[in-house]
Amino acid sequence: MNGSSPVTQNRIIITTVGDTTCSDNAKETFQNIVNENPDVNLFLGDSSYSMDATCFIDIFKSFNGLKEKTIYSRGNHDDKEDESDTVKEQLEQYFGITDWTVSQQQKNVYIICMNSQDPDYDLKDKDQYNWVKSKLKEATRLRDEENKIDWIVVMIHKPLYTLKGQHKPERKARDLYQPLFDKHQVDLVLHGHTHNMQRTHPIKYGGLDNEPIITESGLDFSQDHGQIYIISGAGGRKLYKFAEPKNSWTPFAQDEEYGYHLLVIEGKKIDIFAKSNDGNILEQITVKK
Ligand SMILES: [Fe+2]
Repeated sequence: MNGSSPVTQNRIIITTVGDTTCSDNAKETFQNIVNENPDVNLFLGDSSYSMDATCFIDIFKSFNGLKEKTIYSRGNHDDKEDESDTVKEQLEQYFGITDWTVSQQQKNVYIICMNSQDPDYDLKDKDQYNWVKSKLKEATRLRDEENKIDWIVVMIHKPLYTLKGQHKPERKARDLYQPLFDKHQVDLVLHGHTHNMQRTHPIKYGGLDNEPIITESGLDFSQDHGQIYIISGAGGRKLYKFAEPKNSWTPFAQDEEYGYHLLVIEGKKIDIFAKSNDGNILEQITVKK
């Protein structure tokens, strides 16, 4: 082939954010997300931060069509861990959620939405672990044998990696899932929970109590690679300041501005933007295969 097939066939716009509340900052975040005209919106959990999700649902109701584009990873402020099961039930009813673990193929992207609120989610051979394993197998087959997808994106509220600050990383889940993500060549892992923005180099599992291994091939994902971990938790809730502003595997972090992430996928290329609500691009990287 002469390569003339239009890349726009496989163009897909994904927006992602979490940790919003119902504040003016949150409304601005969602307005900006709607302005990006996404094909898919990945909500990374933690909605109203109250015992009632009505104000959060009202924001969604004010944006025609946003609900239908949204995949939702449940946060600790979306149920009785920090709020109430009323919040969970309101979200289930409004978004039509019957299962908080969801997989979905959107053009050449395979999305796996995990649920860190499942008490067994970080235990081997439990339901979620087995489900993730089977979905990763399916995604790998669609990519390597059937040529139907190029990218695997995982979303889960509580982060496997986060800089020192308000929350600790989910070490047990990391030990359990990252070797699977390495094996199946997952590309991106999206998190909320930490109220700022962070982005790692592509990293592989480094073993118990060890630092991760930074993939030497960098952003060239045509070679064997680790996953890029993105935290997009600056959606509207009061921002968390870093106790440790950077480490060797986290080249981008910011705790000053509210905003969201934008992924523009065209075939075997993803442009990843961290955007502030006042329209600034805080960081842009390009990943290619
Ligand atoms: Fe959270």
